[in-house]
Amino acid sequence: MQLSQSENKGGLGHILFVDDEINILKSLRRAFMQANLNLFIASNPEEAFDVLRQDSIDLIVSDYKMPGMNGLQFLQEIKNKYPSIIRVMLSGYVDNATVLKALTSGLVTTFFSKPWDNKVLIAKINHLLQLKKRLNNKYLLELFHSIQHLPSIPTLYQEFLDAIHREANYKELAGIVNKDVSIATEILRISNSAYFGGGRTASVEQAIMILGINIVKDIVITLSLFKDKPLSGIQYHYFNQVLKHSSLVNFYMPKVYKILFEKPLNTQFTSVGITHDIGKIILLQYFPERYNAILQHQKQEEGMGFYESEIALGYRYSTHTEIGAYLLDLWNFPQVSIEAALFHHSPEKGGLLYPDTLMALLLTNAFVNGKWNDEDDAADAFQATGYQVDDKELRESIIKIRKELSRERDYQLGQSVTGGR
Ligand SMILES: [Fe+2]
Ligand SMILES: [Fe+2]
Repeated sequence: MQLSQSENKGGLGHILFVDDEINILKSLRRAFMQANLNLFIASNPEEAFDVLRQDSIDLIVSDYKMPGMNGLQFLQEIKNKYPSIIRVMLSGYVDNATVLKALTSGLVTTFFSKPWDNKVLIAKINHLLQLKKRLNNKYLLELFHSIQHLPSIPTLYQEFLDAIHREANYKELAGIVNKDVSIATEILRISNSAYFGGGRTASVEQAIMILGINIVKDIVITLSLFKDKPLSGIQYHYFNQVLKHSSLVNFYMPKVYKILFEKPLNTQFTSVGITHDIGKIILLQYFPERYNAILQHQKQEEGMGFYESEIALGYRYSTHTEIGAYLLDLWNFPQVSIEAALFHHSPEKGGLLYPDTLMALLLTNAFVNGKWNDEDDAADAFQATGYQVDDKELRESIIKIRKELSRERDYQLGQSVTGGR
C-alpha cells in the first residue's frame, strides 16, 4: 500500500514500514506526512514482499513481533534478496542481547524502540538516506569501476566473524587466526607491545583475551586486506604508519570518551578506532599514485593534513573517508564503524546515530596527530615503554583541542560535555 506519494514526489527516498498493528501504521503515516519521503506500508512480511516486487524501496522499517515471521527473520530475508535496502527496526519487545547481535552483525542498521519520538525518527531516517546518497556519488563509483574488482571481504575475516557469531571459545578463535602466520605474529606483537599493558605472551589465545575479540576482529580485517594485494617497500612503510596511527587512536579513544561523557564507551564500539582510516589502506593498495600525490601535496603545504590535502587536490567526494565508509557498508559493518569512517574529519551537525562516539573519535584523532605527528615518533610511541600519556595531560589536551575545533568549525562540539575541567 502506498501513501502520499503525490505530495512527496522528488523526496529523499522510498521507505516501507512493516507492522502488524494498524494504529502504529496510522501514526507513522501522520508523522511522516510532512517529511520529504515517499511512504509505503505493509501489515505483514508477505504484503511487504508484494510492495517490493512493484516498487524500488530504499529503506525498510520493520516491527519485531509479527505473526508468522519475526522482524529479524524478515530483515534477514530482505538482506538476502535486496541487499542494498537499508534495514531499520522499530519495536518494543526485543531483548538487549538480540539487538546487539543484530546491530553488530550488520543485519540491522539501527534500532528504535517504541514509543518513538517522531522528530528523532525522521531525522535519523533522513540521515541514513543522505549517507547512502553520499556513498553512491559518481566520483566514488567511477573510482571503484576503474579497478578490476572491489576489495572483497577477506575469507579469514569472514571465518573469524562466523566463529564470533556462533560464540566460539578463545581456543577456536585462536585456531582461525593461527591459519595465517603473519597475522598471528602481528596480533602477538600488538598484544605484547607495552602500551596494551598486557605483558608478554606467546599464545594467540591469550593475546585475544588481552586485546578483546572486537579489536582482534578488526586487526584481522586490516591485515588480511593488506595481504590481498602485496605492497612495495615504501607502501609497506605507509601501511605501517596507518596501522600504528589507528592502533594509537583506538587505544586512547575509550579514555577520551570517559573524559568527555563520564561513562565508559560501549564495549561493542571499542574497535572503531582500528577501522576509521581503512580507506587509506584501500588507497595505498589500489590507487598508490593518488596516495603519493596526496602525500606530496601535504609536504609542500606545511601543516596540511591528509584529508585537507585530498580536498585541495579535488577529491572531495572520494576521500579516504568515503572510500572506507563505502566498503565497510558493503561488508556489513555496524553503522557506528561506517559513521566513524565517514565523518571523522567532517562531523555532521545533526542526525548522526552515534554523535558521542564520533566526537570522541574526532578529538582522539586530533590528539594523536598532534602528539605524534612525526611518523617515526608514532612508530617509537607504539614500541616504547615510557610513552603513555597520563590522565591529567590527556584531559587537558582534549579540552584544549575541543575548544580549538569548536572555534574553527563553528560546530558546537559536545553540548553534553561538562566543560572547563
Ligand atoms: Fe582519517
Ligand atoms: Fe585518523
